[in-house]
Amino acid sequence: MRYARFSSVDAVVTALKPSYPIYCVHPKKLRSSARRFLTHWPGRVLYALKCNPSTMVLGALYEAGIRHFDTASLPEIAQVWEMFDDAEAYFLHPVKARSVIGSAYRIYEVRHFVVDHIDEVAKIIDETGGEGVQMSVRLATPAGHAALDLSTKFGAPPEDAVRLLQEVARRGCLAGLSFHVGSQCRAPDAYRTALELSGEVLAQAGVPIASLSVGGGFPAPYLNEVAPPLETFIEVISEAYGALGLDSSTVLMCEPGRAMVADGVSLVAQVQLRKDDRLYINDGRFGSLSEVHFARVDLPTRLIRPGGAPSSSSHVPFTIYGPTCDGEDVLPLPFTLPEDVREGDWIEIGLMGAYTSAMRSSFNGFYPDTFVVIDDPEQY
Ligand SMILES: Cc1ncc(COP(=O)(O)O)c(C=O)c1O
Repeated sequence: MRYARFSSVDAVVTALKPSYPIYCVHPKKLRSSARRFLTHWPGRVLYALKCNPSTMVLGALYEAGIRHFDTASLPEIAQVWEMFDDAEAYFLHPVKARSVIGSAYRIYEVRHFVVDHIDEVAKIIDETGGEGVQMSVRLATPAGHAALDLSTKFGAPPEDAVRLLQEVARRGCLAGLSFHVGSQCRAPDAYRTALELSGEVLAQAGVPIASLSVGGGFPAPYLNEVAPPLETFIEVISEAYGALGLDSSTVLMCEPGRAMVADGVSLVAQVQLRKDDRLYINDGRFGSLSEVHFARVDLPTRLIRPGGAPSSSSHVPFTIYGPTCDGEDVLPLPFTLPEDVREGDWIEIGLMGAYTSAMRSSFNGFYPDTFVVIDDPEQY
């Protein structure tokens, strides 16, 4: 596939003078982030496609060595299959339609599934016959420390997880265990607690497991977040995992989304109107900026003025309104920008790789859909 390529984000603005939002993909940053996980993680790294399934992003991660993908739907599984000959999709949604389970198994050769209820085990056996199937039991973990909790909707309580592991083994399938401590988790100890709980469940179940996945949740460096570096998370996890004393054949897995891709994409948006300290821009919470609304993430911003004209050195907060006619199309956190920002200026918004294009809607006819590649020789 061919993509429009530019040497910098400023070069994109100069060339296109875009009145529509543009996703600027930075492959070097994506490759470096993927390599950081692949180098330090003592096991298998799966990228969670949900976070950003853009072909440019997936291509960069694959180039860096990612070969395993966490998927949740047939289109995601098909995308991995169509793009890469030697990659594996894992079907990690705990609730799957029957026909989708069958198609995933037969057409796309998916062998790794997740369950958090006994009826789902039966569905998978009915639809696949069970040969060569691994089922990982998703364990609910205590809430806290994360911007978005993922254990209210999914995950079995410990006593159910014990029974599920035993049922998977009874059905003749390989068993696994997994959890997700919540997205944008700031505390490595949340993983330690979840691993200790996993140890109790495994001891009671008495079933050997082929893999243990700690899920995603690793944080991105948003401006309003304080969290230790990835390496600290990995150290804590490795230590807590080691204390479980599992067989050396068990694979320790992680499924990062946000932390792997957040800084690999920035967005160029344009100011359409200024009303005092209110800016009306061409993207918003119904487009690429829903995470500001849902997870309250504070994003770095930079003004780009037509022709590179200077702007004020004094920065002040502005309330940001999106492009739709909806009164709710306003961000809960301000952008801090030069005080003389005006109509026609562009704003580069950083850390826009995670849960941005993946969550956009076409509400009111506004659908950001322009992607370009930035090959900046100065980066890395
Ligand atoms: C099963 C599963 N794994 C991994 C992820 C990725 O999580 P994160 O983006 O917080 O790393 C998610 C996201 O919700 C998920 O549901």
